[in-house]
Amino acid sequence: MADRPKDGRLIVVSNRIPKGDVPSGGLVFALHEALMGAGGLWIGAADVTETAEDGLTPIGSDAYDRATFALTEAEHEGYYLGYANSVLWPLFHHRPDLLTFAEGDFDAYVAVNKRVARAIAKIAGSDDLIWIHDYHFLMVAHELRALGVTNRIGLFLHIPFPNPNDIMALPQVAMLPSWLAAHDVVGVQTRRDVVSVRETMRHDPKAQILNDGTWIRDGRTFAVLSFPIGIDAEGFEIAAREAPTVDLQMAPDAPLLLGVDRLDYSKGLVHRFEAFDAYLSARKPGMPRPTFIQIAPGSREDVAAYKEIREDLERAAGSINGAHADLDWTPIRYIRRHVDRDRIAGLYRRADAALVTPLADGMNLVAKEFVAAQDPDDPGVLILSHFAGAAEQMEAGALLVNPFDRASFARAIRQAVEMPLEERKSRHADLRAGVFAQDIDWWTTNFIDRLRAAPGQGPNRGAA
Ligand code: G6P
Repeated sequence: MADRPKDGRLIVVSNRIPKGDVPSGGLVFALHEALMGAGGLWIGAADVTETAEDGLTPIGSDAYDRATFALTEAEHEGYYLGYANSVLWPLFHHRPDLLTFAEGDFDAYVAVNKRVARAIAKIAGSDDLIWIHDYHFLMVAHELRALGVTNRIGLFLHIPFPNPNDIMALPQVAMLPSWLAAHDVVGVQTRRDVVSVRETMRHDPKAQILNDGTWIRDGRTFAVLSFPIGIDAEGFEIAAREAPTVDLQMAPDAPLLLGVDRLDYSKGLVHRFEAFDAYLSARKPGMPRPTFIQIAPGSREDVAAYKEIREDLERAAGSINGAHADLDWTPIRYIRRHVDRDRIAGLYRRADAALVTPLADGMNLVAKEFVAAQDPDDPGVLILSHFAGAAEQMEAGALLVNPFDRASFARAIRQAVEMPLEERKSRHADLRAGVFAQDIDWWTTNFIDRLRAAPGQGPNRGAA
């Protein structure tokens, strides 16, 4: 393993960790970029293991080290498919109607969080910074404190924080404040999320907010702040410029609309298809014949809600194409297979508009990648949902839409397709400045600096 720097190593924990090449986009790519700069150790879940042994298995070393913790088939079901993705994910994405509680799922979540905490406690040097990522590990810091670990611990939540009503649907809601309070810094994507955390903490009689906005609970203070995640804008721009040309078999002047998402009900894909349908229905003969390419590789397919969204989407694509297609024109191309990062970067650059229209999303890095990939002399238009965390930073340059309002969403598509060059350039220049200034290095440095500066304090005093 790499040498430990004098002022402490960075230990990053996330459920997903690349076992070989780093896949493009999303949380995994962002953490890889962050660790390439800062160095340290990245801990993530093993592909399913035979036994649930403690400890870490090194899986490679580069500018930083990677190691996995054990995860049995039963834990994969209870912790990952169950509590993390059938309870926390829908709840945090404002879909309490999709919650499915299965007996034993929470126990599996506790067992995995405790194992991760024991593994970290064993290897952490006294100055190491521990940076935990996402909803899979909400209890790890609490467990670390119980083990006597006094290191600075940060949590970054990549997904939205639930509103105070939804959170009441979590059977373990009473424990949440003590989990959060075990960190020194709780980072969320947006100011809106900070407000939601604050509302949840307010319901906790043991927690008190100080004048400077930090919280005190069980004698420990912790800060709740927003750190909007960024991308490697420069790298992505280069990838887009140098991307191989793909023959899309389209008329050269036909507008290209693009959506790139993980197949998830939070992404609003059916709403997006329906808005495109409304746009096509309002199209007059002789107006441009756009093609909408939606790339949406499958995800978490063993969870029922994900099977349903896949079927809904296939049905919607089929019926919209049935209604509008012609012998030489297929309006929607829905692609479920994985497409390489290079090709995606090239598609972004070629696209006249990106449809980034989730119903709920922590940030959405596609919005930022699309902007970085554009040719500033002939840029495409970003159609962005109010409900993407990215809207807080990008509202000035993007066309903001409410994905539930089909008619206005359809008008935004038309506006994007018909937008004059000067307006496109000025909107893009505005977006580009933000995406390049607030990039992945900016995000990493901000979080780590804030965590390093947190006042040192002891473990939780047996907090409950
Ligand atoms: C979201 C989550 C990540 C997760 C990713 C992919 O971005 O915030 O924690 O890794 O989705 O989901 P998966 O379940 O395939 O890891």
